[in-house]
Amino acid sequence: MKKVRWGVIGAGGIADRRTIPGMMLSDEAELVAVMEINEELAESLRAKYGAKRAYTDHKALLADPEVDVVYIASPVNCHKEQAIDAARAKKDILLEKPICLDIADAEEVLRVCEEEGVKIGTGFLMRFHAYNAKIREIVQSGKIGQIVSCRAQFTCWYPDIPGAWRQVKALSGGGALMDLGVHCIDLLQYIVGAKAKRVAALKSTNTFSYEVEDQASLLMELENGTFAYVESNFNVPDAVPSKLEIYGTAGSIVAYGTLSQVEGGTIEVIAADSTAGYDAQQTRNEVKKLDVEVEFGNMYTKELDSFGRSHRDGVPVEVPAADAVQAQRVIQAAYKSAETGMFVEL
Ligand SMILES: NC(=O)c1ccc[n+]([C@@H]2O[C@H](COP(=O)([O-])OP(=O)(O)OC[C@H]3O[C@@H](n4cnc5c(N)ncnc54)[C@H](O)[C@@H]3O)[C@@H](O)[C@H]2O)c1
Repeated sequence: MKKVRWGVIGAGGIADRRTIPGMMLSDEAELVAVMEINEELAESLRAKYGAKRAYTDHKALLADPEVDVVYIASPVNCHKEQAIDAARAKKDILLEKPICLDIADAEEVLRVCEEEGVKIGTGFLMRFHAYNAKIREIVQSGKIGQIVSCRAQFTCWYPDIPGAWRQVKALSGGGALMDLGVHCIDLLQYIVGAKAKRVAALKSTNTFSYEVEDQASLLMELENGTFAYVESNFNVPDAVPSKLEIYGTAGSIVAYGTLSQVEGGTIEVIAADSTAGYDAQQTRNEVKKLDVEVEFGNMYTKELDSFGRSHRDGVPVEVPAADAVQAQRVIQAAYKSAETGMFVEL
């Protein structure tokens, strides 16, 4: 099997913390080149992972004939330019979330990719968590009936840090919603299999003093009538696990800790009889819990290999960038709703 040869742009952040270590575990991927703005850091990352070349200019990496595919993990304000340059250089692209600062930029990236005939996928990593994939499978099988509501809560502790790009709107496009909420928006729509048709939201900078929001909550009404709630916080400690809850007419799924960079967490699936008649006693002592068996792996390895196969074998992109543009639309609608106090149609 021919290995997919990767170049990594913005190699010193999540790429170094998680994605490149995930790449090292893959039999299908080879790290050829890294790019960082600081020469010393670029060279140290090259040496750490045994890459062939280190660059300080993303265009130089894109000109490297041995690079088949690029993974872009730079700050959000760099995504548009770097993705467009990659498309013009005819490289297939795995672009980190959130896709761009706004919808207009995101659409331009997609347009250029289409023009150049290159593939572009998004880093919606949470889809690759074995429990989240299983939850989607259970929901889509109809085992818990018609999905009436669902909720995803994803939080972290992110205090004021001078110079942090995520805390500056011009560099990040927004706060907790752009950074964490985007995963929840995508995951709920992916699991339920329906897109948002209208959104209502609240946001505030409640705990810290940076200009972007440190908390945002939103409610989406999906096209199939499901209500989907998202809570994203920069002001809840890292120790608090994420929550994913799905409620249907024939049961529920509740998962802790499955919005995470490492596979694990817990899950409880309850199946019930949706054909039962009305029970005034509301008896709850005959709960049938379903066993859920999954095999854990490395989510980043799975994400990279999935996109690598699209490049190498031509299989459809599993997490297309179009889904990230749609998530961006939801985010912008949510910001508008938070400002106006009104529902915003999509
Ligand atoms: N999927 C995930 O698990 C996950 C987790 C964290 C971050 N992210 C996403 O990855 C991206 C980067 O976030 P991060 O946490 O790694 O940030 P970070 O600040 O930790 O790292 C960003 C890196 O990019 C480098 N950089 C700065 N300007 C650059 C430029 N012009 N060109 C290339 N590199 C540049 C920085 O030196 C730094 O090493 C964001 O889009 C973020 O949302 C994804």
